[in-house]
Amino acid sequence: MALVDTKKMFEMAYKNGYAVGAFNVNNMEITQGIMSAIAEEKAPLILQISRGARSYANIDYLKAIIDVAVKQNPDIPIAMHLDHGDTFETCKQCVDDGFTSVMIDASSKPFEENIAITKKVVEYAHEHGVVVEAELGQLGGIEEDVVGVSADDVSKHLTDPKEAVQFIKETGCDSLAVACGTSHGAFKFKVAPKLALDVIQAISDKLPGYPLVMHGSSSVLKEFKDLINKYGGDMPDAMGVPEDAITEASKMAVCKINIDTDLRMALTAKIRQVFAEKPAEFDPRKYLGPAREAIKDMVKHKLAILGCAGKASECM
Ligand code: G3H
Ligand code: 13P
Ligand code: ZN
Repeated sequence: MALVDTKKMFEMAYKNGYAVGAFNVNNMEITQGIMSAIAEEKAPLILQISRGARSYANIDYLKAIIDVAVKQNPDIPIAMHLDHGDTFETCKQCVDDGFTSVMIDASSKPFEENIAITKKVVEYAHEHGVVVEAELGQLGGIEEDVVGVSADDVSKHLTDPKEAVQFIKETGCDSLAVACGTSHGAFKFKVAPKLALDVIQAISDKLPGYPLVMHGSSSVLKEFKDLINKYGGDMPDAMGVPEDAITEASKMAVCKINIDTDLRMALTAKIRQVFAEKPAEFDPRKYLGPAREAIKDMVKHKLAILGCAGKASECM
């Protein structure tokens, strides 16, 4: 089947209490690792591309890789999504490039301005059969090109449920990324966090059936953090979102869970391990191969946490 949008996935995820994994792709090995896990577990899938990924890999290459993934997995619904689009022009370009879902992230703008930009994107995208994710509230963490609030300030920037309802009604966006205490990157918290899942509950009480999105949802797996630190890396203070909180959110109105950092850490950990244990190795296949395998195992583990393994067919 061709690329799909996220409507049916979110409908089923909401109804049946799970979330669809949205994994960031930047190259062939990352995509292949994800696809091997998805093919074995038969889960619906969102492959997402950031502006950074577009400029790193060139969208034509990424699109070609994703087209192969779609062709080789006719029994899996796959959406191609723009992650953190910053302007109408970026979103329009992605709609024109064949994305089936785009995110407009104008969450750093004042409320009314966020509404105006999001509405414009929704109009264009919907005219072309593409769905739109928007964001309200501010996540913590600073990624390249994605600037949020500092991790300590997170609780002050949670999404206001009343504003969320007004925002969704006025913009017509198809899903909403909410700030509930998560943040981007590998250094999310200094002490074990408690997510503000009451924000999720309050929005879904007001808008039953409406799909919410959780960004910054990597859990910084101990296995990879330990390997990175053991083999010359320096991320002793890395900390992510506890996986039981991810499962809890997945059972609520959260229908899409964004994961990038855990992919990066799996890849980096394995490459560091090969380089440390076999310093004479210089064949990229000998370190990218194990890295790709680590991504596969990690994604399989995530699909169980999200509850979406085995759900591909009901989302077709
Ligand atoms: O939310 C941010 C994602 O991890 C993408 O990061 O902009 O460095 O590709 P990136
Ligand atoms: P992580 O940094 O927690 O993986 O979050 C990724 C993300 O939200 C992409 O939009
Ligand atoms: Zn994000």
